[in-house]
Amino acid sequence: MGKPRVVVAGRVPAAGVDLLRERYAVEVADQRPREALLERLAGVAAIVTPTAVAVDEELLDSAGDSLKVVANFGVGYDNIDLEAIRRRGLRATNTPDVLNGATAELAVTLMLAAARRVAEGDALVRGGEWRGLQPDQFLGRGLIGATVGIVGFGRIGRRVERLLRGFDVRVLFTDGSESAYDGPAERVALTELLAQSDFVTLHAPLTPETTHLIDAVALAQMKPGAILVNAGRGPLVDTDALIEALRSGRLGAAGLDVYEDEPDVPVQLRELPNTVLLPHIGSATDAARGAMAKLAAANVIAVIEGLEPPSPLV
Ligand code: DGY
Repeated sequence: MGKPRVVVAGRVPAAGVDLLRERYAVEVADQRPREALLERLAGVAAIVTPTAVAVDEELLDSAGDSLKVVANFGVGYDNIDLEAIRRRGLRATNTPDVLNGATAELAVTLMLAAARRVAEGDALVRGGEWRGLQPDQFLGRGLIGATVGIVGFGRIGRRVERLLRGFDVRVLFTDGSESAYDGPAERVALTELLAQSDFVTLHAPLTPETTHLIDAVALAQMKPGAILVNAGRGPLVDTDALIEALRSGRLGAAGLDVYEDEPDVPVQLRELPNTVLLPHIGSATDAARGAMAKLAAANVIAVIEGLEPPSPLV
């Protein structure tokens, strides 16, 4: 019998792929187009999937009975049909913790960039249009001393709170899980968080309950001129309502790393000056992505060798 086959979908860092290559027959496949990826899955023991790949009945059927494990390259797992995994007696894993710092840091980056109008200033200088310092130019808002609302107070939300301590902010949070916490941040209801926060940053997982959590009603409850940051999942926010709130000036600005229909970003959002738009790079540091790759590989190896994986979902 030959070595077990493993398909790695997408350009996962070598730190993880090399660990797999030492043991298995590894193929790296493009994640798009999906049809081409599915054609390569027949007979695999494991698939490493970036979170942009939907792991559903169709994908699992394409792999067939040889499949043992789907190792998500990412902490979020809204792309995986966990019920289908369970029904088939398979394992699914993710890559928690190793990206907390990188993702939290990017959320803080978006807060500062949106508040201090970094993208607008950069575009002016880059376009050769800057005519020298003007006392009234690009007046922004400060993060220091502001009230920050963290929606979703899991590993990444808590890391954001810790990073913000040097900014002397007041931190409010909501948390679906009601898990224990005895730090300086205050647990409040979502409506109170929205009404009081100068910055609202989203770190809740995407579930049917959190889809469009920030809709037109929620946006209308936010403090006038507040800044919304989303480095979690695009569908947490109703994009049409967000565009309207940004256009009307009801919301001061938005810093976004994720979108409802990635990689499509509505032109209306791209045209707004009060947005900072990044291409889903929350965990994109060398260290975090390397650690994610190693953890995904360790999950695959454990399952194929008949051991418990380090970070199981199912
Ligand atoms: C994650 O880890 O969930 C990031 O969003 C990358 O997809």
